[in-house]
Amino acid sequence: MDTQIQLSHEDYQRAADWLLSQTQHRPKVAIICGSGLGMLADGLKCQDSFKYSDIPGFPQSTVKGHAGRLVFGELKGKTCVCMQGRFHMYEGHSLSKVTFPVRVFKLLGVDTLIVTNAAGSLADSYNCGDIMIIRDHINFPGLAGLNPLNGPNDEKFGPRFPPMSGVYDRGLRKMALDICKGMGVSQYVQEGVYCMVGGPNFESIAEARLLHRLGVDAVGMSTAPEVLVASHCGIRVFGLSLITNKVVKSYEDNETVNHEAVLEVSKMRSETLQALVTELISRMDINNNTA
Ligand code: HPA
Repeated sequence: MDTQIQLSHEDYQRAADWLLSQTQHRPKVAIICGSGLGMLADGLKCQDSFKYSDIPGFPQSTVKGHAGRLVFGELKGKTCVCMQGRFHMYEGHSLSKVTFPVRVFKLLGVDTLIVTNAAGSLADSYNCGDIMIIRDHINFPGLAGLNPLNGPNDEKFGPRFPPMSGVYDRGLRKMALDICKGMGVSQYVQEGVYCMVGGPNFESIAEARLLHRLGVDAVGMSTAPEVLVASHCGIRVFGLSLITNKVVKSYEDNETVNHEAVLEVSKMRSETLQALVTELISRMDINNNTA
């Protein structure tokens, strides 16, 4: 795997310029859809959509449940761009490729990123089908040196040593909790810590126990790199995990997890998630008139 492809500012600019020449939409909000959550794009009005393979420099998505399209459109009067299908490290993509779209979004004028993912729960109080608002993350690959910001720093995007405290915007988290209360779904909404692991294997029992002891509430194989790069270039971040399985933590437990089950649970909560994201965008304070 090439972990260290160095992309230039022109690579991002080329993709952004191509998109700006193909659509009239000028998005302020970007949404990254996790496994089985591609329907978040379905609510967009006046859609323009582009296959990843047609966009200069975009990688290709290889995972079942990820469509591989960038969809532009209006949601509650706000212009959005939605990634139906994201890129993962375990697919063999370099982290600069995994996060390529985020910098392209920045150049399109996006100021808020909503990330979603499917995740397994470690927290004892969580259930399958719960929605977890991400309060913070542990980036295991990042801690081990697999970081999309490795290499020369592009000051046009952000500083060499970006802070990572307070990345998940407090105001948006509070707003989401209020919306969930209003929707009457608080009983299956949580707020917690997401941990990224490299995958593609699910966790061993000893690994699950380790993560649990570290204070991880939910674990998945994505999100941290995109969030890191978004935060680095000043994009506000909000994240949601859909709990698709409880991670096995006991040697007595005969349960196993599989990708099909993950996609099944995603389907079950798709409407609630869509309603939550739509209402959040509707209430969001963004200026749609600036370039
Ligand atoms: N572990 C890691 N990633 C996941 C899981 C899990 O249990 N469920 C969905 N994505």
